[in-house]
Amino acid sequence: MIKKRRVFSGTRPTGHLHLGNYFGAIKGYLKLQDEKNLDCIYAIVDLHGVTSPYNPKTYPKEVTDLVLDYLACGLDPKKSHLIIQSHLPQHLELAYYLSTIYPVSRLEQLPTYKEKKLEQPKYINLGLLYYPILMAADILIYKAELVPVGKDQLPHLELTREVARMFNNYFGKTFPEPQAFLTSGSYVPSLTGEGKMSKTNENSYISLIDDLDTIKKKLAKVPTDLGHGNKVPQQGGINALLTLVELFMGKLKREQYEKQYLTTGIKYQPLKNELAQYIYNYLKPIQAKRAYYQKHPQLIKEIIENGERYALGIVQKTLLEVKRKMGFR
Ligand code: TRP
Repeated sequence: MIKKRRVFSGTRPTGHLHLGNYFGAIKGYLKLQDEKNLDCIYAIVDLHGVTSPYNPKTYPKEVTDLVLDYLACGLDPKKSHLIIQSHLPQHLELAYYLSTIYPVSRLEQLPTYKEKKLEQPKYINLGLLYYPILMAADILIYKAELVPVGKDQLPHLELTREVARMFNNYFGKTFPEPQAFLTSGSYVPSLTGEGKMSKTNENSYISLIDDLDTIKKKLAKVPTDLGHGNKVPQQGGINALLTLVELFMGKLKREQYEKQYLTTGIKYQPLKNELAQYIYNYLKPIQAKRAYYQKHPQLIKEIIENGERYALGIVQKTLLEVKRKMGFR
C-alpha cells in the first residue's frame, strides 16, 4: 500500500464563515479531500481563537457553528477527518517543545503579529506572539505536507517550514517541510472596497448563512461611481463587485460589464440585484445542508469523535518520537 500524503488545515471559530473564508481556504479543503492519495485532517483551531478578545459564554456555540459551516460547505466525514484542536492537547505539548528552538525576535517581526498589535492594543498577550508556534505544531504533529490556506497565512507557513528544518537539524530528520496549497480566485475583496473580506468589519462580508434580503442590503451599501469612465477600477467598490460577478456569474459576465463601463455605462442597481440572486442561489444548498446537520446533533458528535480518535493515534506517535529525539526518554 502506498502511503498517503497528509493534509492539515484549520480555521478559528470567530462566527460564521463568509465568502472570503470559503473561496480563500475552504474550497481548497474540499478539493484536496477528493484526492485519493491524500489523507486530510481539518480542525477548528479554538486554542488560536482565544488570543483575541472573545466571550467564553458564547464560545462553545461559535465552535459548533463552525463545525456546522464546515459540513454545510461539503466537508465530508467519509473523505476527511474533523477535529477540535483543544480536544487534542498534544498540539500544545509539541508547541512548547518547538518554542524552545525558535527565536522570539523573529516572532516579533511577523506581519500578522504586528497587525494584531495595532488591531487590539489592549490585548497583546503572550499567546498572540506564540500563535505561529502553535500553528506550526498543529501542522507538524501530523507531519502534514500540504496546507490549504489563504494568502495571508503564507508567512506562518514559511515559519512552519523553518521550524521543521531547525528541528530536523538539531535532532535528526523528523518533519517534512509543508507546502501551502492556494486555491485560484482565493482573494475576495471587502464589500467596503478596502482590503480583503473579513470578519472585523460588519460591512465587509457576506456570510454563508445570509438570506437573499440580507445579501441585497449588503450589496446595496457597496460604494460605486457614475458607472462609466475610461479605465475600469482595479480597486475599491467597483472592483469588489466585479470580482464577485466573476466568482458567481463567470468571467464572461465580468468582461461584459467591463465593456459597459468603458462604453454605455453600468447601471449598478440591476447588477447588484442580479449578483445577489446568483450568490444566494449558490448558498442555498449550503444552507440546506447546514439545516440538516443542525437537526442531527448526535451525528455531529459522532463525526467529531471519529475524527479525534483517528488523530489521537497520530499525535501520540509523533510526540513520542519527538520526546525521544529531544532526550526526554
Ligand atoms: N492561522 C490560521 C488562520 O488564521 C489558522 C490556523 C491555525 C491554521 N493553525 C493552523 C491554518 C494550521 C492552517 C494550519 O487562518
